[in-house]
Amino acid sequence: MDNAPRWAIDNLELDRVGPTTLADQIARHIEVAISEGALHPAGRLPSWRDLAAQLGVARGTVKAAYEKLIDRQLLVTAGSAGTRVANPLPPSVAPITTSDAELLQPPDAFYRSGDPLVFQMGVPAHDAFPGTLWARLNRQAVQATALRTGHSDSRGTIELRSALASHVAIARGIECSPDQVIVTGGFRAGLAIALQTIDAKGKEAWVEDPSYPATRLALDLSGVRTVAVPVDDQGLVVSRGRKLAPRAAFAVVTPGQQAPSAVTLSPQRRTALLRWATESDAWIIEDDYLAELHLSGRPANALASGAGADRVIHLGTFSKTISPMVGIGFLVAPMPLARQLIDIATWLGAPPNAAVQLALAEFLREGHYLRHLRRTRRLYSERRRCLLETLATLGIDTAIPAALSVVLPLPDGFDDLALMNKAWAEGIKPAPLSPWFADAKRTRSGLLLGVANVLERRAEHDCRQLLEMIGDLSKIAGQSSPPFVPA
Ligand SMILES: Cc1ncc(COP(=O)(O)O)c(C=O)c1O
Repeated sequence: MDNAPRWAIDNLELDRVGPTTLADQIARHIEVAISEGALHPAGRLPSWRDLAAQLGVARGTVKAAYEKLIDRQLLVTAGSAGTRVANPLPPSVAPITTSDAELLQPPDAFYRSGDPLVFQMGVPAHDAFPGTLWARLNRQAVQATALRTGHSDSRGTIELRSALASHVAIARGIECSPDQVIVTGGFRAGLAIALQTIDAKGKEAWVEDPSYPATRLALDLSGVRTVAVPVDDQGLVVSRGRKLAPRAAFAVVTPGQQAPSAVTLSPQRRTALLRWATESDAWIIEDDYLAELHLSGRPANALASGAGADRVIHLGTFSKTISPMVGIGFLVAPMPLARQLIDIATWLGAPPNAAVQLALAEFLREGHYLRHLRRTRRLYSERRRCLLETLATLGIDTAIPAALSVVLPLPDGFDDLALMNKAWAEGIKPAPLSPWFADAKRTRSGLLLGVANVLERRAEHDCRQLLEMIGDLSKIAGQSSPPFVPA
């Protein structure tokens, strides 16, 4: 064992009761160590005997793990020299040069994988996910679909579309048939279908200012000419939109709880927005990302409910209410556009795996989803209160609750992106506020602190760590920074 690498063994924890065999777990661990560079090409592995003794498993188990990796050309046997990491490695795991590696990463660190960290936005509570139940529903759904070999419906399974149609009728006031529902891979996938359907390239669109940066990026990539329309304490200022871009082809809005301000579009503005769409033959893309995940009061009905709904393409997602890992959202097609939306979804898209759809349908039908929402609403309210109180105890009384986050305003010009980088390097994950603004004249500096993973026992420690990074607290304590959404 003397020269054997210490890499993996120190943190190799075997699950001796779970369904994965010990050999598979050891093989997986070695594979990860190779792909992360902890084990180098040509590096020697411990002998079966040594590793087996170290891990407290049979020699045959380690032998089986090594043989799996030899079959996959990740390891080679070198006679009396033992077992070594292949050199060169097969391209599937070979690390690439740093510049290429960066080139091939997702564009935004937000979309790289990993467990949720404190203050992270857009992820549910790590400790409240009904994992056992979800795993059981998925197992059953995989079994039910394993022997089906045909195509599944390009709009999504009928089980899920029916469950969604019933759910949005009760929870969001939308009256629609399951045939108007298209299951998607989440908000972004639904947005892509909507943009192709309305032939958005080259056209003008209203976007809220401030708004979700990913939406503006998606529109830019699609060749849309975005026009930033300000948001105030009643939501989108429709009259400004009419002045800035009267002939816009569509608007993308978050009327339920505006992202990031959490303002609900007022009844007058709803009417004004729907009237504009009807008069101008324009479309409204409704991003209902939080749906009924409303921490106080009753959520307003969706724009796609009631009069004017035939101009609204309603996009729902389970990213916030269940988890982005589920990778499912849906679109409710207004009748005038339903045929084209279904055609685009069929020929240029594809629904998520049928088994996950069935598991989600069951989750909805059996009432688990509503129970989960009730529990998480309570939990997030408590966590948000805890975060605000902790900040207040530490002298910060300028923090503003906003849906599932707390906004911590910083003085104008404060580099919130640099602050984010510093915080992320230390394992806490606030989001900078400035990228949410399109118009430089309106940009505000600040941090968005997601509340979902704030734990009471750690809150003071995490807040102190964050505030220390900000540095001179006098800069934010009691400052009179203008509100980021003006009244
Ligand atoms: C405003 C807004 N819309 C939509 C989403 C969800 O997007 P998706 O379903 O693509 O994960 C998010 C997630 O962060 C969001 O903040």
